[in-house]
Amino acid sequence: MKKKWWHDKVAYQIYPKSFYDSNGDGIGDIQGIIRKLDYLKGLGVDILWLSPIFCSPLADQGYDISDYYNIDPRFGTMEDMDELIAEAKKRDMYILMDLVVNHCSDEHQWFKEAIKNPDGKYGKYFYIRDSKEGGKDLPNWRSYFGGSVWEKLPGYEDKYYLHVFHKKQPDLNWENTEVREEVYKNINWWLDKGLGGFRIDAIINIKKPEVWHDYPADRADGMCSIQNMLAEAEGVGVFLTEMKDRTFKPHDSFSVGEVFDAKPEEVLNFISDDGYFSSMFDFGTTIIGRSGKGWYDWGECKPNQYINAIYNSQNSVQDTGFLSNIIENHDEPRGVSHYLPEGKCTDMGKKMLAAITVMSRGIPFIYQGQEIGMENMEFTSMEQIDDISTIDEYQVCLDAGLSKEAALKVCAKFSRDNARTPMQWTEDIKTAGFTTGKPWLEVNQKCTRINVEQELKDDQSVFHFYQELIKIRKNPEYKETFVYGDFIPQTKPEEEVMAYIRKSEDYAFLVVGNMTDEEKTINVSGEVKEILLANDNEVKIDGTEITLKPFQSFVARV
Ligand code: GLC
Ligand code: CA
Repeated sequence: MKKKWWHDKVAYQIYPKSFYDSNGDGIGDIQGIIRKLDYLKGLGVDILWLSPIFCSPLADQGYDISDYYNIDPRFGTMEDMDELIAEAKKRDMYILMDLVVNHCSDEHQWFKEAIKNPDGKYGKYFYIRDSKEGGKDLPNWRSYFGGSVWEKLPGYEDKYYLHVFHKKQPDLNWENTEVREEVYKNINWWLDKGLGGFRIDAIINIKKPEVWHDYPADRADGMCSIQNMLAEAEGVGVFLTEMKDRTFKPHDSFSVGEVFDAKPEEVLNFISDDGYFSSMFDFGTTIIGRSGKGWYDWGECKPNQYINAIYNSQNSVQDTGFLSNIIENHDEPRGVSHYLPEGKCTDMGKKMLAAITVMSRGIPFIYQGQEIGMENMEFTSMEQIDDISTIDEYQVCLDAGLSKEAALKVCAKFSRDNARTPMQWTEDIKTAGFTTGKPWLEVNQKCTRINVEQELKDDQSVFHFYQELIKIRKNPEYKETFVYGDFIPQTKPEEEVMAYIRKSEDYAFLVVGNMTDEEKTINVSGEVKEILLANDNEVKIDGTEITLKPFQSFVARV
């Protein structure tokens, strides 16, 4: 593989609205991020991905952009943004923004113009279709956030526009060269400002099939999952190659794709040496247990499934590409609550998940709060939930016959708001130290127990464990091995212990994590020479046989 500047970096995702509020209006902002740069530098991260802060009605929390060239006043100003880029640079850090170009906001000027004249230039920026039958004769696709993908074009009785996400997120027509030119111009404008790159949102959706038609309904609503049309869409790579050649490549910038539903035979085209992106997220674990029926039908992720998913994705890209490894993000429940067995969300388990993720091959992405072990919120009412996707899934539960209590329970478990509650800086039960005002979303009461202030004081904390893992990864002696070394699984998924060796010509490191609350014994192919970090130092080793306590985990030189 060609070596690139981002290969040895550690990344961190900021959800700006909930990170840190500098002016007391209850909404996190850019100045808030600037104030916490030293904290992030102290953790050891280099790349900061900011979820969208462009002008937006915030219908989908910024993933509905009304102006790609300006910062939403709630987050700050362009001067703040320039300051953030400059302050990051001073600390050898890079800023990524979120590229949301499958759709824009219905409040974007383009869409407003399209409404004025659907047959004109801007009408062609979107997918607008005529229907004489109230939309019934249009394809029966269900949007990701529920309901039909078709919404009446405001002011017209017989015109509909396509939105695969929310109705406030009309899809942009990528077949139109003018749209693509607008996108490339915007990306370059930002990269010229000194951004390190972009995280690329929902990108697989930009390519629609040539012929649009119904698919068999998969729910009582008569509609079908959007995945049907994605499966038929051919040739997303043509757009993505063009985008890369016109933007990221000439800037040597970092790009990481949010790619779901890629065709298996195409995956390597996304991230090989001359791939569409520098990297893409590994969602192998997040999708376990999912069902097309809705959250109420989703299952658990068992240790063997988790391990199997990681081994598979690691194997599939060895030597050819760099995945971005996550436990969670702003669309997922908190990883420690989701992947550790119920009632076992302890620091031991949290550190175990940290070790097996951070030391894998690829670029670790830590989501805000993950480094202090933030857990799911205990939602007791739908009133506490803001997220549009959760509100839709609540309805799906009710439609499927669940009681209100049962529906709330399902939503509490999977809600994206689990990850979106304010960052817990202090134990203050009202604000978690996130704001001096009233937080826009209720604070997780667990802040009394889990907060940055406390984590920094305690040298055995989850925070310090993450910090140590990153230090080991970046140790100049070991770096080459952790970045480019092979990933060699040491166990079978059924053993419920994740164990792998990272190996180069110079070194070999063993990373193990017992994913259960039982003692486990495994055999590995190398003898431990030195333990570099453990979540419990009492490690039982007999030659190549290792016996692990519940959730025990360590990194060792072998
Ligand atoms: C991506 C984002 C998610 C958003 C969606 C629509 O999946 O991560 O938060 O709702 O795209 O833009
Ligand atoms: Ca603010």
